[in-house]
Amino acid sequence: MADRYTINLDGSDVAFADGETLYEIAERHRKEVPTLCYDPRLEAFGACRLCVVELEGARNPVASCTTLATPGMTVRTGTDKVERYRKTLLELVASENREIDVDPLAGHASQELKALVDRYEARTGRFQGRQSGASREDDANPFILRDYDLCISCNRCVRVCAEREGDYAISVKGRGFDTQITTEFSGPLEDSDCTFCGQCVHTCPTGALADRKALRHADVPGEIEKTRTICPYCGVGCSVDIMTKDDRIVGVQPAMDGPANLGALCVKGQFAYDFVQHEERLKTPLVRGDDGVLRPASWDDALDRAAEGFRRVERKHGPAAIFGVASGRAPHEAAYAMQKLMRAGWGLNHIDNCSRA
Ligand code: SF4
Ligand code: SF4
Ligand code: FES
Repeated sequence: MADRYTINLDGSDVAFADGETLYEIAERHRKEVPTLCYDPRLEAFGACRLCVVELEGARNPVASCTTLATPGMTVRTGTDKVERYRKTLLELVASENREIDVDPLAGHASQELKALVDRYEARTGRFQGRQSGASREDDANPFILRDYDLCISCNRCVRVCAEREGDYAISVKGRGFDTQITTEFSGPLEDSDCTFCGQCVHTCPTGALADRKALRHADVPGEIEKTRTICPYCGVGCSVDIMTKDDRIVGVQPAMDGPANLGALCVKGQFAYDFVQHEERLKTPLVRGDDGVLRPASWDDALDRAAEGFRRVERKHGPAAIFGVASGRAPHEAAYAMQKLMRAGWGLNHIDNCSRA
């Protein structure tokens, strides 16, 4: 019974739990097994074979991401043989790709293929030949670029759309060189069930799917800085990385380790950030004059005007005519102050917050 839950991993006996794959065990033990079609949030798929390891007794190296551990296995993750195998597989993938060096603004995982090509010093033109995947330059949606010349058929986009977004907006048609990521009836994303959540973009390891909006800033000079924060839109509290260049927001990426969202966002959190630095954004209170025109005012004037409005309603209709709805974009402290105003100020429980919706 002693070895019931152990395998031998690179010469050491290590424990594993029921249902763990060889890749998960190797990763837990900090083995640097490369992957391309793997996304820890998704069911393993086994398309790229880059995660191969040597398994004693098996004729060929096995894909570690789809191989469940069983007691007594002997596994080697970094032998010359598997490293040569991985490099050749990588060169096959890289040879089909028109562009390895994509801009990091393209998406969260967009640098994965490039990082592996660099790590293995893989030749990108070794197996030049026919290409699979036709780009959809006709897809004019404002958010997602679909450049399937860079696609490696890892199916991460299709799987994240189905397994995480529950949307099934995209699928695969054809086989071999005719493999193509597509929507129903091959139409543009806007005519599909796509919610523009952006998850396919951020799991794509090659930039084949890319954040079209962020890429508009690709030529802006300066390093990309990422700032971890919480999406301001609703009460879920999704973690995001705000990307800036020279203090300007150039894009938003979901935080893969965000406890509330694990890499998921909705279309607003993902793409609707222009208001933050919009030139027409209000920077001072506006008060409407007797002529009905809004004019800039001091905070004191604006608050006096608001207080007078509340008093007028209270005099005419009683306090029960007052109801407060706090903005989901307001911080906790402001929401707290607002409910205090309703409860302590007017003795009402007429208070809600649009984050609840
Ligand atoms: S943006 Fe979201 S809903 Fe649309 S295809 Fe990608 S994963 Fe599916
Ligand atoms: S578009 Fe990207 S995520 Fe989708 S199959 Fe191709 S390479 Fe993979
Ligand atoms: S990462 Fe295991 S087969 Fe692709």
